[in-house]
Amino acid sequence: MSKISSPISADLFERAQKVLPGGVSRNTLLRGKHPLYVKNAKGCKVFDVDGVERIDFANNMASHIHGHAFEPIVSAVSEQLKQGTAFTMATEAEILFAEHLCSRSESFEKIRFVNSGTEAVMAGMKAARAFTGRTKIAKVEGSYHGAYDYAEVSQAPNPSNWGDLERPNPVPLAHGTPSSVIEDVIILPFNEPEQAAAILDEYKDEIACVIIDPIPHRIGMVPVKAEFAKALSEWTSTHGAILMFDEVITYRSEYGGMQEQLGVTPDLTSMGKMIGGGFPVGALAGHADVMGVFTKGERGLLLPHSGTFSANPVTMTAGLVAMEIFDRDAVSKINKLGDYTRASLKDVFKTADIPGSVTGAGSLFRIHLKENAPTNYRETHPTEKEAKALSAFIDELYDEGIMMIHTASGTLSTPMDESVIDQFTDAVYKSLIKVKPILA
Ligand SMILES: Cc1ncc(COP(=O)(O)O)c(C=O)c1O
Repeated sequence: MSKISSPISADLFERAQKVLPGGVSRNTLLRGKHPLYVKNAKGCKVFDVDGVERIDFANNMASHIHGHAFEPIVSAVSEQLKQGTAFTMATEAEILFAEHLCSRSESFEKIRFVNSGTEAVMAGMKAARAFTGRTKIAKVEGSYHGAYDYAEVSQAPNPSNWGDLERPNPVPLAHGTPSSVIEDVIILPFNEPEQAAAILDEYKDEIACVIIDPIPHRIGMVPVKAEFAKALSEWTSTHGAILMFDEVITYRSEYGGMQEQLGVTPDLTSMGKMIGGGFPVGALAGHADVMGVFTKGERGLLLPHSGTFSANPVTMTAGLVAMEIFDRDAVSKINKLGDYTRASLKDVFKTADIPGSVTGAGSLFRIHLKENAPTNYRETHPTEKEAKALSAFIDELYDEGIMMIHTASGTLSTPMDESVIDQFTDAVYKSLIKVKPILA
């Protein structure tokens, strides 16, 4: 529990609980007695209503690449606000942003905008079904792809229900998930090409889509092995299924997303978060033939699809500015800072003499209070002791002026530099020393 008193946040939460279930609109904000409420933010700093300043490594769950209130975005969006925010007409802003994103990745021939990563994944799964005429979706155990029923299966299994490692059970997340959903989701072991292919073979005429996050944060933020991505790519192309990369978070990792580094060309890619420049966004991009399901073709209109605020010009404008500025140099600079962060953290574990490891790639990292870095979801799953220590560690970091995602995942933003990382690793050291007794 945080030792810093935050009476204004506490009062706000009292009020919030009267009108919002659990006091929030997103459960991820719930920690300790009450969430903290923000006053304002600038660059990589966030100021709460009780006057405490923190360096932001959460970045609204990896959605800010340029930090907060980034001047070029503020000024472009302010101009757009004066022109109107959403119309029952198309805008050029949408075309400009689509042209930009399609120029970044070879696999993006056509793109459709939506309002969240969840919606992008949902549209991708439905597009795969419409294109292939099949129903089953295959995903990796423990991977997070948002809140669509099919995407949620086996998002958070535990030792009591996850079954054999080589053949994981499909485990529902929400009570009331229809059994038909569970039957239609096939769960694959992570980074195990042969085992995954053997499972897929059993359903080879039924699989519409295989979805994979190239650096799945809930699977310990362990990067996917190129051989695994390639095996899935080969399997899907041999068996007429769609390979979808979920790059909602990982698109930040290379100029053209992780697919550029892995040398795999997915049929579809879901995106979201940072491509919106701080505004709600989702996008589905892919090969023109698969994306053709959204429009009337020889087989008719296979997937009618709309969204009231999709491609609104505020998001399109913010996204275009954010992504144009996130050019190859900016990507390479932030990734180098990521290398520096991971290396510094490893040193801190040694100095603090604590069993700790760090995973991640590019501008993403995750801290584990485990001697050996995990290699899959099951190894990432913390023991009771580790979970207690991790929660206390995040509290200590908050008190040291650092905001992290509560799984101890962190993301960098372009306003950060090595001096910010040094402040961070100092805070990590102090926090680790405080929680060391829990791990003993
Ligand atoms: C890999 C991945 N896919 C999809 C989503 C869902 O995105 P959103 O929260 O915008 O619906 C997330 C969100 O964290 C994600 O990490």
